[in-house]
Amino acid sequence: MQGISLDFSGMKPFVKEDELELIQEKVLAAHDMLNNKTGLGRNMLGWMDLPNRISEEEIKQIKDAASKIQKQADVFIVIGIGGSYLGAKAIIDLFDSTFSNMQTLSDRKHPEIIFAGNNLSGKYLRNLIEYIQEKDVAINVISKSGTTLEPAIAFRILRLFLEEKYGISGAAERIYVTTDAQSGVLKSIADTQDYKTFVIPKDVGGRYSVLTPVGLLPMAVANIDFEDILDGAMFASHVFNERSIEHNDCYKYAAYRNILNMKGKEIELLTSYEPSFKYFIEWFKQLFGESEGKDSKGIFPAGDIFTTDLHSMGQWIQDGKRNIFETVININLNRSFIKLPKSVDNQDGLNYLAEKEIDYINKQAFLGTLKAHIEGGVPTTVINIDDLNEYNVGQLIFFFEKACAISGYVLGVNPFDQPGVEAYKKNMMALLKKDEEN
Ligand code: PA5
Repeated sequence: MQGISLDFSGMKPFVKEDELELIQEKVLAAHDMLNNKTGLGRNMLGWMDLPNRISEEEIKQIKDAASKIQKQADVFIVIGIGGSYLGAKAIIDLFDSTFSNMQTLSDRKHPEIIFAGNNLSGKYLRNLIEYIQEKDVAINVISKSGTTLEPAIAFRILRLFLEEKYGISGAAERIYVTTDAQSGVLKSIADTQDYKTFVIPKDVGGRYSVLTPVGLLPMAVANIDFEDILDGAMFASHVFNERSIEHNDCYKYAAYRNILNMKGKEIELLTSYEPSFKYFIEWFKQLFGESEGKDSKGIFPAGDIFTTDLHSMGQWIQDGKRNIFETVININLNRSFIKLPKSVDNQDGLNYLAEKEIDYINKQAFLGTLKAHIEGGVPTTVINIDDLNEYNVGQLIFFFEKACAISGYVLGVNPFDQPGVEAYKKNMMALLKKDEEN
């Protein structure tokens, strides 16, 4: 069942019907390039049928590893950067309690999950090592290339920590590697040390890899029903493959983005009124940022959590330079059922909201902001999610992946490479090697 739907009424004041008609040809050409594998990056289209491709055996291996990790660890550390951690972090944050890592193991029902290797901060690693001193730890190191500096450094330090604590063979029981099937330093370390290894398919790029073991193993450790996520994504892969703008909201969204971009709207703001979407927004930023930002083109992907950021960025969005458009993720069914209690003395004057659900109040904030932003010149699309469950989130993941690929082709770039990322690495490595020589 389709669990997400799009409301484009907030586009009407900004985009004319015939503009959609004019871009249609490009969108359908992008559809053909993806389906016939004739476009740029055609060898990186494995994400399109990932939910279909995963075998029963792989699912079993992920589940077995997850239950072993749950038994052996108080703390599960996921080492990876960019596409090798953002998807897992995004999905775990959506389904875990907001205060998960502060709960007891028996309340949380899975190890504490900490992400590392996504920065080069000495403070972060020092604090992590101090924190885990007395704890039982398991590690999942994730790197497709197997050579990225940030996770490699974190892995060397944490591997040593495990080896000192449990011995070489004890540590090997607690290290899980997710990497390429054949190449990379990480693969050879895993082979030599006999670590349990999961494969990132060759034809799936980092930012499209959340539905491979990259995302699925951490999700399984967090007791998230990843098979429902895969089912939702599979459903979306059919629905959002219809060769039409009119009947395919994914293609319509891609079309609107490109029309707005041509009209000078250079920034897309993905927003949500649910703070647990913070990392989903980070995942979206990476997906679109690395896919579209090249050849001096691209829409700058940004994000905000409302109402929090209405008190910091709200002024800019409402009143600043009119070069932004907004995409809001709205959840229709809220399940927190927490109400504002009635107060006897009403000293704070809030009794006009007494007995109202907080989610209802949040919804009015959304509706009020939506109207204000559209009236203030911000074209806005609303993505409605019926209910925040795994199946619908699977649909949402696939929706954005497909929209990104179509958008990139319409924009005229290769959505599956990231040559720009190499520039900082090249300079950093030159500086580090220089240090070595001195
Ligand atoms: O999308 C991408 O390809 C990148 O963001 C990578 O995920 C990121 O750079 C990490 O690379 P790797 O998994 O090779 O360590």
